[in-house]
Amino acid sequence: MKILAIETSCDETALAILEAEGGLENPQIKVRKTELFSQIDIHKEFGGVFPAVAKREHAKTLVPLLMKLFSDLGENLEDGASVVDEAEVKRILEREPGLGDALIDFVKTHEKPDIDLITVTSGPGLEPALWVGINFARALSLIWNIPLIPANHMEGHIVSVLTESRDMQFPALALLISGGHTEIVNIKSWGDYEVIGRTVDDAVGEAYDKVARMMDIPYPGGPEVSQKAKAFREQNTESQFKLPRPMIGTPDFNFSFSGLKTAVLYELKKCELIDDNIKHHMAGEFEQAVVDVLIKKTGKAIKEFDAKTLIVGGGVIANNYIRENLTKLAGENNIQVHFPTHELSTDNAVMIGIAGYFKSFKETATVCPEVKAEGNLSF
Ligand code: KG4
Ligand code: ZN
Repeated sequence: MKILAIETSCDETALAILEAEGGLENPQIKVRKTELFSQIDIHKEFGGVFPAVAKREHAKTLVPLLMKLFSDLGENLEDGASVVDEAEVKRILEREPGLGDALIDFVKTHEKPDIDLITVTSGPGLEPALWVGINFARALSLIWNIPLIPANHMEGHIVSVLTESRDMQFPALALLISGGHTEIVNIKSWGDYEVIGRTVDDAVGEAYDKVARMMDIPYPGGPEVSQKAKAFREQNTESQFKLPRPMIGTPDFNFSFSGLKTAVLYELKKCELIDDNIKHHMAGEFEQAVVDVLIKKTGKAIKEFDAKTLIVGGGVIANNYIRENLTKLAGENNIQVHFPTHELSTDNAVMIGIAGYFKSFKETATVCPEVKAEGNLSF
């Protein structure tokens, strides 16, 4: 099955073409082509992701990316060009200024591609951003008469490990750690998921970014905080700060990072000057608190659910210390651990293509279905 996947849930506009076979039992995924535009530099100026800005940028970027993705399609084919119901396409895209006209120009002058299924993220994410991708996908589905199925972004992060061949044994557990999410998911088989724990307030990446901001490190500050923490560990000294490990002992699999962030704020307020030395001590203790909690809860979940495999996804896995500790945890429990490749750790369309492929075995894809953006979509 040839799949076109579209992702616009946050601040990356991403498209991918992939080929998938083997179904839910033995999925084999081949990535054919990807295009991605990150809005991070635009959002940096605001110190965070603004939904209205994200929406505008997605609308501006989708057709240029589509042109690149299909740059090998024949152009200006008199017979090949799609017959377009322009009024209907414009109606579907009426809330995305400029997108309707740009898309119509493209499809009128290009062949219909050889695609069997279109899939798009319908949630969770920022709703104004999600809508752009959904409306774009619906318009393409209508124009090319290709079935469309919505996909779950969090399922995407889990299945992103499947672009490489993996020894997958079920039940598996996924730990998803990003700027927007912190969840532990029990995977009984592909397509069958249950969230067993989540953050009750801030996500891990969000806590990193907020702590960074308190120390005047620009958004997104996670990577720099982790660099400072690494440098601190190399000094081999004890941190002058002692932070709490929120919810580390609770009997559930939930997390809380808001209290940890607040504790950082109080400690920093006591300091006369937040110099580089203070930043290193704080980053080191903060990262250790995060790791202690993540490892404790994940380890408990592995035992309780008798997991055979651990999958870790989300932007925070760029953090080597967290990675190392999770790898060690898997080793101690004699189970496999899988991380997506570096490019597929952050938001991308490849993972949405795989999630959409799986979804197509659970529900029937149709041409231009009604799809709703669901900001808080769960499994
Ligand atoms: O998954 P992602 O790209 O975006 C979403 O939130 O969906 O994750 C980005 C998050 C940001 O909060 C960023 O600060 C954090 O991942 N991050 C890190 C590191 N690299 C990125 N956090 C800690 N250590 C890192 N090395
Ligand atoms: Zn994500």
